[in-house]
Amino acid sequence: METPSPLPLPSACHDLANLDPAIADHAPGGATALAPAVLEVRNLALRFGSHLVQEQVSFQVAARSIFAVIGMSGCGKSTLLRSLIGLLCPSAGQVLFAGVDYWAGTPAQRNQLRKGCGMLFQSAALWSSMTIAENINLPLRQLTALNPQQRQARIAEVLHWVGMDSCADVAPADLSGGMKKRAALARALAAAPPLLLLDEPSAGLDPINARRLDALILDIRDRTGAAVILVSHELPSLLAIANDGIFFDAESKRPIAHGSPRDMLAQSDNPTVHAFMRREILAASADHPAQVAATP
Ligand SMILES: Nc1ncnc2c1ncn2[C@@H]1O[C@H](COP(=O)(O)OP(=O)(O)O)[C@@H](O)[C@H]1O
Ligand SMILES: [Mg+2]
Repeated sequence: METPSPLPLPSACHDLANLDPAIADHAPGGATALAPAVLEVRNLALRFGSHLVQEQVSFQVAARSIFAVIGMSGCGKSTLLRSLIGLLCPSAGQVLFAGVDYWAGTPAQRNQLRKGCGMLFQSAALWSSMTIAENINLPLRQLTALNPQQRQARIAEVLHWVGMDSCADVAPADLSGGMKKRAALARALAAAPPLLLLDEPSAGLDPINARRLDALILDIRDRTGAAVILVSHELPSLLAIANDGIFFDAESKRPIAHGSPRDMLAQSDNPTVHAFMRREILAASADHPAQVAATP
């Protein structure tokens, strides 16, 4: 039986162990346009000095959606996440959390808005000198008013959610890659942020652990009601769990598709999107730059 959550979260919808393997059917398609946006990005431009990464980036992330950020390596996915959590100021455009403009705010207002984001970095980025419980305790101390006893209860709760009940006192170095990702996910969601940002959570995992993580992301979304921004190259993951998304083009440095990955796969006639979603390669011919060749 679940112990009562020390944070006011919606109760669990189901246990991880009971997840239907056909997890694609759990993705909440269709409701996106009606739900209020947790995050809205308006005409964002991202640069490093004179180097343009992406421009004309606009999208909304609806409550409880799993929003995919897709594109080739180096197209700007991680840079976008950094601009959303306040680590990189965009060169143009707006980032609005529940309608409030992040970059137009004072440092104190930004600090407040940043508390609404839980981030899982690609490398997991757990503090190696701390146990898993101490890692999870950090955001709880910084972002919540929970007392030590409540924090311990919350740590136990989120470790249970990610299937790591017995790992509270373990050092990150003693965990496998998949367990590190799950521990970092527990840390990202511990303070109950309404928005979770996951940067390539399945990268480096074997297919079984990658699939387990997909199921876990859906389960966490259902338990907490958080919206999820998912940066991923893993087509099976994207098709299984994301119900909305954006595709960044590395060449034109602009988004070239919006919508669910499944719709991108089924409907996009853009050759880059078409090739990416079908694991094909673009024929880099000067005469026929848009021509597509199937991977042998
Ligand atoms: N700190 C930085 N300084 C300068 N350029 C950077 C920095 N971080 C990333 N870039 C450049 O920005 C582009 C987008 O990088 P990134 O967002 O990491 O791509 P992705 O996550 O899609 O693989 C790349 O050309 C990369 O070299
Ligand atoms: Mg990246």
